[in-house]
Amino acid sequence: MDLHLVGSLSVSGQALTFGGESVEALADRFGTPLYVFDATTFRTSVQEFVDAAKSAHSDTRIALAAKANSAVAILSIAEECGIDVDVASEGELEAALRAGFTTDRVHVHGNNKSDAELERAVREGVRAIVIDCLSEIDRLQSICHRHGRVQDVMLRLAPGVDPVTHHAISTGQDDTKFGMNVSDGSADEGTQRILAAEDLRLIGFHCHVGSQLMDSEAQVAGAQRVSEFAVRYARDHDSIHEIGVGGGLGIRYTKDDDPEDVVKYCQEIADAALGPFRGAGLPLPTICHEPGRRLVGEAGITVYRVGVRKSVPIIGGGQRTYLSVDGGLADNPRPQLYDAVYTALNASRISEPHDTEFRVSGRHCETDTLIDAAKLPGATSEGDTIVVTCTGAYNQSMASNYNRYPRPALIIVGDGEPWVAVERESIEELFRNERVRSRVKSS
Ligand SMILES: Cc1ncc(COP(=O)(O)O)c(C=O)c1O
Repeated sequence: MDLHLVGSLSVSGQALTFGGESVEALADRFGTPLYVFDATTFRTSVQEFVDAAKSAHSDTRIALAAKANSAVAILSIAEECGIDVDVASEGELEAALRAGFTTDRVHVHGNNKSDAELERAVREGVRAIVIDCLSEIDRLQSICHRHGRVQDVMLRLAPGVDPVTHHAISTGQDDTKFGMNVSDGSADEGTQRILAAEDLRLIGFHCHVGSQLMDSEAQVAGAQRVSEFAVRYARDHDSIHEIGVGGGLGIRYTKDDDPEDVVKYCQEIADAALGPFRGAGLPLPTICHEPGRRLVGEAGITVYRVGVRKSVPIIGGGQRTYLSVDGGLADNPRPQLYDAVYTALNASRISEPHDTEFRVSGRHCETDTLIDAAKLPGATSEGDTIVVTCTGAYNQSMASNYNRYPRPALIIVGDGEPWVAVERESIEELFRNERVRSRVKSS
């Protein structure tokens, strides 16, 4: 049977296992919906990426994009692996610090950083702040001046590259809120303004062109343009020695997804980023990759239980069968946000053929389709345990409490006994910040 056993999913007898643990047993023990994260798969993905990137260019830094998954336990594994972290808010910065990152391994992003966020980053002494717009330069300069600090910064460029991916995760084109345009001269204006700022030291340029990319084509174009831009300034400014190529490499959400091999990917990007420096006879820059999804995506699954099985007539004849699981939009908004496609497995019937089409929906008051045409065993019933694969990225970190559902627990496997890294939220906790005005008048 051709199941999509991605990451450490495996069939052992009648059981579906993940990180060596029976998924049904995890569901019984910890309840559903449940995020499960395999530390071993994560460590292996990190090591693979580090090896590939460093063999393409030894002077390469890898930073996990915390937005993909900022659970402190997961960031602390990244910390142990020796990679850096990129954060895009004060909350993510706090998560990185709680995970044990020293600030010389933290890069700060964000297209609309508040003064408070910039101030915290400067006070903490982060390795680099990636500036996104003109006004940020002046605000950061005055914060640094006030604190008597010189801050290393990079400038995020919009290199005018349009990747093949969903428009909502495409960020390298000219028409984007991220970074400063190379094509209209604003990137030059930003660079000159940073170079003139007394307390900012420009160490390089950055771009992130998009996500869930199946090959390096768009990033090669982005890295090449960023590097060509950098060379124009690096000739006269020794401090400019780093090219940030962002993240973006995709994962296998479905059997049809066939992302490029990471060795080839890193080599092609390194060639593009280094070429202009080689051509100009300048010292080769540091390359910084910021993978998110590629490092954590396949290391996570979500476990649900089927609450309702229902068949309905469809226009034009025939029937559709819905399976409503005990999660959905609030623990995984990606299908609604940008038509993300996932694969499901039935852990209760893993040895039965997954050959019947179902629409897997959530429990929320929206048409929250999780998977439009999932292939599962025909006998899939209420009470069965369903696994959605590849949910380690942008699921827990994007979760909400829509319909006042508490967020699921996060369990770590593949690291000794399964353990609870994030407790399931309680109903009580949903109300911890709420007040009602007293109806009793004080006399
Ligand atoms: C600046 C930046 N770096 C890295 C990433 C990580 O992207 P991915 O998870 O696709 O690797 C993102 C994603 O939005 C990003 O905005």
